[in-house]
Amino acid sequence: MNASAEDLLQLSAPRVLGLDVLSQLPLGMTFQAALIAANDGAITTLRECQLRRLGQAESTQVDCTVSPLNSHKGRELSIVELSQVEQLSKISRHNWLEEKQSAFAQIVRSLAHEIKNPLGGLRGAAQLLDHELSDPALREYTRIITHEADRLSDLVDRLMGGSRGIKSEPFNLHSVIEHVRKLTLVETPQGLNFERDYDPSIPEVIGDQEQMTQAILNIVRNAVEATRGKGNILLKTRVRRQKTLRNHRHRLVVEASITDDGPGIDDQIIDRIFFPMVTGRADGTGLGLAITQEIVRRHDGVIECTSRPSETCFSVFLPVGHST
Ligand SMILES: Nc1ncnc2c1ncn2[C@@H]1O[C@H](COP(=O)(O)OP(=O)(O)O)[C@@H](O)[C@H]1O
Ligand SMILES: [Mg+2]
Repeated sequence: MNASAEDLLQLSAPRVLGLDVLSQLPLGMTFQAALIAANDGAITTLRECQLRRLGQAESTQVDCTVSPLNSHKGRELSIVELSQVEQLSKISRHNWLEEKQSAFAQIVRSLAHEIKNPLGGLRGAAQLLDHELSDPALREYTRIITHEADRLSDLVDRLMGGSRGIKSEPFNLHSVIEHVRKLTLVETPQGLNFERDYDPSIPEVIGDQEQMTQAILNIVRNAVEATRGKGNILLKTRVRRQKTLRNHRHRLVVEASITDDGPGIDDQIIDRIFFPMVTGRADGTGLGLAITQEIVRRHDGVIECTSRPSETCFSVFLPVGHST
C-alpha cells in the first residue's frame, strides 16, 4: 500500500498488513465485488464504487481497477488501483446525461405534435359520420373512434408536459407535499406509512404549484406502487446553500426528497428511468417520471435518483430566487 492509498483509505500500511481484504477491511460492497470479479484472472475495472472509510459516515467515490498477477508461492496476487472520482467529472457526466435526455425529450415533443394534428381530423370526421348514422349499433363504432382519439390526444398532451403554460407564483413546497400525502392516503388507505422530516425554514419557491403537485405525485405514486401500498415513505425537505443547478450557481436551493423502502429500481432501466415510455411495470406507461422531469426542468430545477434495495430516493432541487 503506497502513501496515497494510506491517505485515501485512512489506514496505515502496517495496520493493514496481514488482514483479510474481503472480511477485515472496511472497503464497501462494490469494491469487494471488483476483487472477487478479478479472481478469474481478468483485469477488472469498476467505475464509481462507493468507498466507505473507517469511522466516516460519508462514502467516497472511486474508480477501482484490479489486475491479477502471476501467483507467487501458491498465493494469488493482485494489484488494486484506486482513483478518486473528481467532483468535476461527476458533474460533467451529469450534464452529459441531461443533454442526452433533453435531446430525446425534443424528439418526443416533435413526434407528439405530428401525432396530434391528424388526430383532430380523425375525430372531426368520426363526429360528422356519427351525425349521418341512424343505426345505434353503427354509432357505437364512431363512439369508439372518438373516444380513442381523445385518449390518444390526452396521452400526447401529457407527453408534452401538459398543453398549458407554466404559472409563476410563489408557493410553499410543504403544502404541495402535504397535499400529495393526503391524496395518496385516500387512494391507498391500508398499510401505507408516511414519515415526515420537514425543515420549517424553507423559503417559498416561484412557479406553478399545480404542476409541481403533479410532479411530486408521480414520484410518490411510484413509491406506493413499488412498496405495494404497504411501505414506508419518507418525505423530507432541506435548504441547500451554494448549489449548482443546470450550470447556474444558486445561493439558495430547496430540496424535497421522497425515499421508499421498496425493492429498488430495476438495474435494467435505472439509466433510462426519466425517458418517456420506459417502464418496469406491465401496466405502466413510463410517462410519470418523464413528466416530472419536464416540470422540474421548467422550474429551472434538477431531479436526481439513487436506488438500492429498500432505499430508493428521488430528490428534487429547486432554486430560490435568482442565480448568481
Ligand atoms: N420508487 C421506485 N421504486 C422502484 N422502481 C421505481 C420507483 N420509481 C420508479 N420506478 C421504476 O421506474 C419505472 C418508470 O416510472 P414512471 O416513469 O413513473 O412510469 P410508470 O409508473 O408508468 O411505469 C417504473 O415502472 C418502475 O419500474
Ligand atoms: Mg409512474
